[in-house]
Amino acid sequence: MSLVDNTKNTFALTTPLYYVNDLPHIGSAYTTIAADVVARFQRLLGLEVLFVTGTDEHGQKIQRAAESKGLQPQEFTNQISTEFVSLWKLLNIQYDRFIRTTNPKHEAIVKEFFGRLWESGDIYLGQQKGWYCVSCEEFKEERELLEGNLCPIHTNKEVEWRDEENYFFKLSKYQMALEELYSSQPNFLQPESRRNEILNFIKGGLQDFSISRVNLEWGFPVPNDPKHTLYVWFDALLGYLTALLEPEDEPTLENALAKWYPINLHLIGKDILRFHAISWPALLISANLPLPERVFGHGFLTKDGQKMGKSLGNTIDPVALVEKYSADAVRYYFIKEIGFGKDGDFNEVRFIEVLNADLAKNLGNLLNRTLNMVKKYCAGIPSITNENVPEDNPLKAIGLQLGEQVKASYEVLAFDRAVVAVLRFSQAGNKYIDEQAPWSLYKQGQQQELDQVLYVVLESVRLAAYLLSPVIPNISSDIYQQLGFGIDFNNQIEAAKAAPFANHGNWGLLSSEQQLGEAKPIFQSIELDR
Ligand code: MSP
Repeated sequence: MSLVDNTKNTFALTTPLYYVNDLPHIGSAYTTIAADVVARFQRLLGLEVLFVTGTDEHGQKIQRAAESKGLQPQEFTNQISTEFVSLWKLLNIQYDRFIRTTNPKHEAIVKEFFGRLWESGDIYLGQQKGWYCVSCEEFKEERELLEGNLCPIHTNKEVEWRDEENYFFKLSKYQMALEELYSSQPNFLQPESRRNEILNFIKGGLQDFSISRVNLEWGFPVPNDPKHTLYVWFDALLGYLTALLEPEDEPTLENALAKWYPINLHLIGKDILRFHAISWPALLISANLPLPERVFGHGFLTKDGQKMGKSLGNTIDPVALVEKYSADAVRYYFIKEIGFGKDGDFNEVRFIEVLNADLAKNLGNLLNRTLNMVKKYCAGIPSITNENVPEDNPLKAIGLQLGEQVKASYEVLAFDRAVVAVLRFSQAGNKYIDEQAPWSLYKQGQQQELDQVLYVVLESVRLAAYLLSPVIPNISSDIYQQLGFGIDFNNQIEAAKAAPFANHGNWGLLSSEQQLGEAKPIFQSIELDR
């Protein structure tokens, strides 16, 4: 069992491939925003990044959804997958690959992969009896079910009894290999709580699982036995491999694995942990392939403290949210307010309060008031550079270690910690201005002191904007423009070249040569309409 090669200068990450039974919801937006933040951050660090997302389009759930709309499944999935593409555009998600599991190239990869497992002797024909949740596309243990044979996750859906001939994958054969994986690679699955959950599950003994269905048309046929259709999760996980193909590549595993494999990070929600933390590594070991470096299972979102669901009528429409409040606002709230890995809540009043306090008041005011003062008191730029600022200046002292601190938080996916550290810094900037009172320094003719105060504050806003750019790229770009840098964080490749982390992630970059731009508010306060 070989693992990722850490000497590579590439970084591949994935979101789950989303089901297209319905329009995208806030849960899918949440994972994808987080993935976009990671991708943007890794690019600033100078890595070549491949950010994979896409849609999972086969299986009974999708087939039934299409039927209920009176559409052919392909026509239906074409429509819904377009909705994902447009939501990602709206949310300013810059993915590199959008894989649809109905792509013909994917079938070739699935077939080849199946062949490898067959060669390993890990596939056999058996009889599957059990309770199936079509919404989860997963068999459930009888003891997991809620009263009335309801699925524990889709609590308004009855499970269905199945007794049919299926092909099975010998998961039980990989019991030891998985135990060994978890003891030798403590960071393979994060956070810690999910790791423990999976370890316990593995210790309970792994059972083979079925990888084909009968009486299901919508999917790829099992190679050599087309009466059977491949189980949707088998084909879906392999979508991660197909996505690695270059557009011009022939669909072979060799090509798919050539550049980006092994994948560095799979971001998923906690409900699909077993597939990614048990089935996926076992399938890869059986196919004799290296394993991904890290799987991270985030928590679930609730609305106003309640579980979200169509039947409860309390879902959040991500499109409406972005159209009303902007992409940066939505990205900011979910990244800052919810510890990644924990469950979190969306509440519109809280949403508005957070944005107003952090973006309009804290960061926005800091930039705006400082730029205006620089214009008024220093003829456009403080004539001072970093060398003249003593190390114990309160903002410089924080700024000197902030980049490394924030980097460490991004690296462990503690996004909330990264953002909070930057916001505290910006708050310290506001406090510093109030204490130093540049307006008084001006009146007293203390130009040198005044220049120094304004320099450190401007440099603080710059550093804050840079460190937040993976989360709020539009606002950070606006701030950079106003500070006179021609850098657009949405042009990621250019930005990484012109403003690499090693340089712009550090304190002390502004010089007295800097030509500042126009001061404009970067975030308008939102009125609360009650
Ligand atoms: N198609 C499978 C994934 C296959 S990956 C090879 C799937 N799709 S899904 O559309 O149902 O779910 C996608 C993601 O959305 C999952 O990571 C799931 O955890 C996440 N969420 C669904 N509802 C959610 C919340 N209420 N909150 C946060 N994330 C949630 O599963």
